[in-house]
Amino acid sequence: MEYRLMINKNFVASRIKDHKSNIVTKMWNIQQTLDDVIAMGRGDTDLDTPRHIIDAGIDALNNGATHYTHPMGMPELRNAICKDIVKNGGASYNEDEIVVTAGGQEAMFAIALGILNPGDEMIAVAPGYNPYFQAAELAEAKPVMVNTYIDNNFAMTADAVEPLITDKTKILVIINPCNPTGAVTPYEEVVKLSKLAIKHDLIVISDEIYSRLTFGNHTAQPVAALPDMFERTITLNGFSKSYCMTGWRVGYFAAPKNLITHLGEIHHGFAICAPAVSQHAALAALNGSQDCVNDMKKIMQERCEILCNGLDEINIPYSEPQGGYYVYANVSKTGISATDFCLKLLEEGKVIIYPGGLYGDHCDDFVRFSLTQPADRIKEAVSRIKKVVATI
Ligand SMILES: Cc1ncc(COP(=O)(O)O)c(C=O)c1O
Repeated sequence: MEYRLMINKNFVASRIKDHKSNIVTKMWNIQQTLDDVIAMGRGDTDLDTPRHIIDAGIDALNNGATHYTHPMGMPELRNAICKDIVKNGGASYNEDEIVVTAGGQEAMFAIALGILNPGDEMIAVAPGYNPYFQAAELAEAKPVMVNTYIDNNFAMTADAVEPLITDKTKILVIINPCNPTGAVTPYEEVVKLSKLAIKHDLIVISDEIYSRLTFGNHTAQPVAALPDMFERTITLNGFSKSYCMTGWRVGYFAAPKNLITHLGEIHHGFAICAPAVSQHAALAALNGSQDCVNDMKKIMQERCEILCNGLDEINIPYSEPQGGYYVYANVSKTGISATDFCLKLLEEGKVIIYPGGLYGDHCDDFVRFSLTQPADRIKEAVSRIKKVVATI
């Protein structure tokens, strides 16, 4: 018989807070017991990495890319990243102002630990990408949420941010386009937020991971390229979303030299370096044709329309998705909470989506749909949702 020693002491550090991710674990456990679940929960598309990028990874492995690289990333990749940032309207960085990380996710934790002292405050949008809150908490700082609302399409405005700034505020996070709402912060508002950062001497983390995936006329302005913003901006980006490379775990951050040296050493301690094979693949992504990014954008737009039309038929309102690959919808009309709605939809309709509370939403009314399934599966998801809603 297996013998396990019972230990009553709580070994978990006091800085570890309860993150509402239990619901995700619970849903994954339920999903495992079901067949034919339509997965629209995680932000990981069904689309595979484009062939030329995969081939570059395979070639790299065959040619010996099985070792550590330079801790801050292969120089040729950092060079290509600098060029790519400028090509997309961003600031002009030097190669030694880039750190290649194991995804943007690693970058946000390295940045939070390198910038925030215990007791400092970090302002971030809610609903917003929740690991930022977790990163601030791990640094023993306080995440301060700017609540945004469907009335103005979940826009983060300077007017909403300014009253939250205290003498402890050190970082303002701008996620543009935003996950989970798909909101794009318009140019004028990014300028106002930048002026606020200058006025109150804040660092801005500009999360531009979805910036290539904007819909219609919407565009996302890179913050570091705005006047007087280079010195106080850390640009965070990655390959997961634009090039369908979630599993390769490769991203980066860019910051002025005085910050990057310290932050880069945290990354060095976390990971030694980003995976060598993935860095070669990322290099191929930047150097190759960008048609794949445009194709992906079109696909996401089509999927978005299909889902939104379906939600219209069921009378489920949502905010206008302006970029990224999510639709944020209000299910309060069903009379049950968003969390219960997600559980019911999974158990009875076999569609997995996530409740908005996960993203720091201030009410339990919204759910996030990821556009991570082909059009026919999204249509099927809509018809399953219809059936489940009819039973409530
Ligand atoms: C806003 C945002 N930033 C960063 C990331 C991290 O992505 P990755 O670590 O795959 O680069 C994500 C992932 O979903 C995200 O939504």
